[in-house]
Amino acid sequence: MNVLIVGSGAREHALAWRINQSPNLTRLWVAAGNAGTAELAENLDIRSSDLDALVAAALEISADLVVVGPEAPLALGLADRLIDLGVPVFGPTKAAAQLEASKSFALDLMRDAGVPCPDFASVWEEASAEAYINSHPGPLVVKADGLAAGKGVILCEDSGQARAAVKLCLSERAFGEAGDTVVLEEYLSGPEVSVFAFCDGENIAPLVAACDYKRLEDGNQGPNTGGMGSFVAQPEMWTPRLESEVEETIMKPVLRAMAERCSPYKGVLYAGLMLTDTGPKVLEFNCRLGDPETQVVMPLLASDPLDLMLACAEGNLDRASVRWESKNYVGVVMVSDGYPGDYETGFEITGLEKDGPGDTMVFHAGTKLGAGGLGSPAVTAGGRVLTVVGGGDNIEQARQRAYSRLERINFQGARWRRDIGAAANQGAARTAG
Ligand code: AMP
Ligand code: GLY
Repeated sequence: MNVLIVGSGAREHALAWRINQSPNLTRLWVAAGNAGTAELAENLDIRSSDLDALVAAALEISADLVVVGPEAPLALGLADRLIDLGVPVFGPTKAAAQLEASKSFALDLMRDAGVPCPDFASVWEEASAEAYINSHPGPLVVKADGLAAGKGVILCEDSGQARAAVKLCLSERAFGEAGDTVVLEEYLSGPEVSVFAFCDGENIAPLVAACDYKRLEDGNQGPNTGGMGSFVAQPEMWTPRLESEVEETIMKPVLRAMAERCSPYKGVLYAGLMLTDTGPKVLEFNCRLGDPETQVVMPLLASDPLDLMLACAEGNLDRASVRWESKNYVGVVMVSDGYPGDYETGFEITGLEKDGPGDTMVFHAGTKLGAGGLGSPAVTAGGRVLTVVGGGDNIEQARQRAYSRLERINFQGARWRRDIGAAANQGAARTAG
């Protein structure tokens, strides 16, 4: 199969790494990719938002499958355009991607389908927000309805903060049109887990789950980021009982509801869950794999990745055999000094040689080839630079391996958290992280 991966982060490098091991692969391209994907595939200099160029590239290379990493091209309708041209695509249509692109769409659907989620109201005017705030004293969560690059969620401890957050969206338009509809939600608490369901519109593969850490600094301090680390610890965080509860009460009803609305969901459905005292509840859906969760999930995939993704695209997942290993992985994200604010780039990265300790992987994000091209040291090109992953029979072994590989890597201004996957912190990662 000729395969095109869309995206340029460590998630896409992890996808390229796993797809590259498939006996079904003929040739692999990544748009736009990074220095890591350049070693496995041909990088194409195309932005994820340039649908015309992506579609043209897919036709040019006679793609048998296009795998879409980030949400933006899906929300813009990349899958629809490829489907119209007969190109199989792993990722939902624009209508199905509404599950991520509109929080009120997702919440309305969950309410109709009886899927556990926070109590909520969607509002367009401050007066309606005021009515909800007055009838729900205490902490609330205020969210911009649309895609806001991970920034549109405001946790409010009291009514005053909630009023200010509503104003920020509706009058000050801090999130532009993404905040023209606002969702007010009940404030839930409990550990968090990201659950991934590979779907073909009707059927669901066995679920896989991981946890991520969002805050910049150790102990879950500092600003929110695109993710500073992730882990899978089995069975501590993901038991067969929880898996079947999530499948029956969340994934299956959502898939049925999407099919009934004539937008069958194909691709991966990512549910961000909070494990509350009264059971798992959905905080958000995403229409793609998570970053940095994919970096610890792809190593678990024991079946053929192309069989799995093509089955999702073509609607025959019921005939595919999908298996996840029961192993533990820890992924630590190395970022540039200053991230998530301003940072410098162009620093040479040393210590990336492949002869690291066993069962470790380094996935690139903001990197590009150095002046010497392939084989010469890569240089930093973004805020999120690398995800260093270690695997083991238990989480502590996985964590030790990840950090011992990481310690050999260096670039000017490299920063990372030292507590990813640490036992004392696993619960915390899943609440405040
Ligand atoms: P979201 O992008 O909707 O997942 O929100 C980002 C983060 O905000 C989540 O990972 C949670 O930590 C927190 N959050 C979102 N919704 C709620 C809620 N209803 N109650 C408490 N925390 C929430
Ligand atoms: N790990 C969070 C995300 O991918 O949205």
